[in-house]
Amino acid sequence: MRLDNPPSILAPAPQRTTPRHNPRAPAQNEPTPPVLSERSESKECPKKSRNVPIPPTVSAAHMHASAKRTHRPSRSVAFLATWLRGYLAFPLRRAPNPAKARHPLTRKRAGANRTHFPIPLLATAYCLLATFPLKLPPMKVKLLDLQEQYLSIRGEVRRVLDEVCDAQDFILGPRVERFEQNLATYCGTKHAIGVSSGTDALLCTLMALDIKPDDEVICPAFTFFATAGSIARLGAKPVFADIDPATFNLAPEAVAAKLTGNTRALMPVHLFGQLADMTAINDIAAARNLPVIEDAAQAIGAKQNGKPACAHSLAGCLSFYPTKNLGGFGDGGAICTSDDALAEKLRLLRVHGSGTRTYYHKYVGGMFRLAALQAAVLDIKLKHLDAWHEGRRRNAAIYDQMLSGSKVITPKIEKGNWSIYNQYVVRVKDRDAVKAKLTEAGIGSAVYYPMPLHLQECFAYLGHKEGDFPESERACREVLALPVYPELKEEEVRHVAKTLLAAMN
Ligand SMILES: Cc1ncc(COP(=O)(O)O)c(C=O)c1O
Repeated sequence: MRLDNPPSILAPAPQRTTPRHNPRAPAQNEPTPPVLSERSESKECPKKSRNVPIPPTVSAAHMHASAKRTHRPSRSVAFLATWLRGYLAFPLRRAPNPAKARHPLTRKRAGANRTHFPIPLLATAYCLLATFPLKLPPMKVKLLDLQEQYLSIRGEVRRVLDEVCDAQDFILGPRVERFEQNLATYCGTKHAIGVSSGTDALLCTLMALDIKPDDEVICPAFTFFATAGSIARLGAKPVFADIDPATFNLAPEAVAAKLTGNTRALMPVHLFGQLADMTAINDIAAARNLPVIEDAAQAIGAKQNGKPACAHSLAGCLSFYPTKNLGGFGDGGAICTSDDALAEKLRLLRVHGSGTRTYYHKYVGGMFRLAALQAAVLDIKLKHLDAWHEGRRRNAAIYDQMLSGSKVITPKIEKGNWSIYNQYVVRVKDRDAVKAKLTEAGIGSAVYYPMPLHLQECFAYLGHKEGDFPESERACREVLALPVYPELKEEEVRHVAKTLLAAMN
């Protein structure tokens, strides 16, 4: 039981319409025990005269207040004693009504065996709580709890997993095809090609575009490693550009400043669930006839001007890593495109460049297939995805409202953007201290990301130094992701916001 959400079992006592005969009842002028009702916390006796001790009712609000109040044992003990006296005076069993009891059909309803324990019992419980207030543990909120979501779809998921197991059909096949069709429809593209991870989706797409050593691909300095890592794995050069501090996404003007004769592609990232400025980025690309690959790993279903992520450019890459809005039971990813030739090449590349003729290879590809078990789970989850997005958006709106006007900088969603809030990322000064206070209060949070890509050890060969991308570096010092997953209860979101505000002071 949480102190800030006490259960409503402590309802007002039912009013008796006929007076109870009680030989041990106190006389009219004896002190009457107090009544604490839902409406009033007054300890005055009610005006109505009674010939029995009035059973107490304890309001939830009162109980809450009592548990928080400074403990005054003498008063509580006196109260307990009064109530124990009332309890003992209270008949546990009603006298049977002989007239009704005689009738076989009404015998059970005559009340012969009906006890009246709840009211005195609740009174006693109240007295005990007032005397020895419970020290309840503080509310804990995880950054992400995948179990709640799983429990809500467990039956559906177990059924399809059984079907795949019964068929022993694990590699590609109808399950993967069905999921790919549904995914393409969802993303507003002609094709979707399921692959082994979001990282492999990026790598496979760059391979399909023939990105080679010394080619340059422009991407943000502030993103998950895979964006730049996939470029570097092909021997190409990740060319970093700084971000727009309001959205954490690529700043189009920074992209324009990084174009050279070797630029072969642009790779914007839709970070935290909001699309980068695709109109401006597509304009820059179109002027140079460059392909754009959307890293939409964190943005499935997010929209810009009504158009979903992945449908704004030549290809969009998705991740089904379990923390994503559409998370698998392991690794998985997909590439969405409306380009027929690219889709066909991607399908070959994901199986070592081999098509229908097994062991004949048109390209050097990789083993990038999406497992049928993953596709089966993802296809079930896809049906729930919009409802889950709504849950995240609802939680984000609560944070926005509660944190507005404070020192916490909340995420800015650009006009025309519809974010799916894969993460709700705020900026705070003294971030590490604030994070430590949240951890101490039992609230999960995370830093995405603590170090920009240009300062990563593995990219030292690119020759960057601190200060090259100031907005990316500042983001790394200030960002803090708060719990936003759809199953969170409103009181939990509010508790996180309040705790964060307290931690800021
Ligand atoms: C922006 C971004 N790109 C790429 C990836 C890579 O996806 P995966 O982990 O499925 O390989 C991720 C995963 O977190 C990501 O956030």
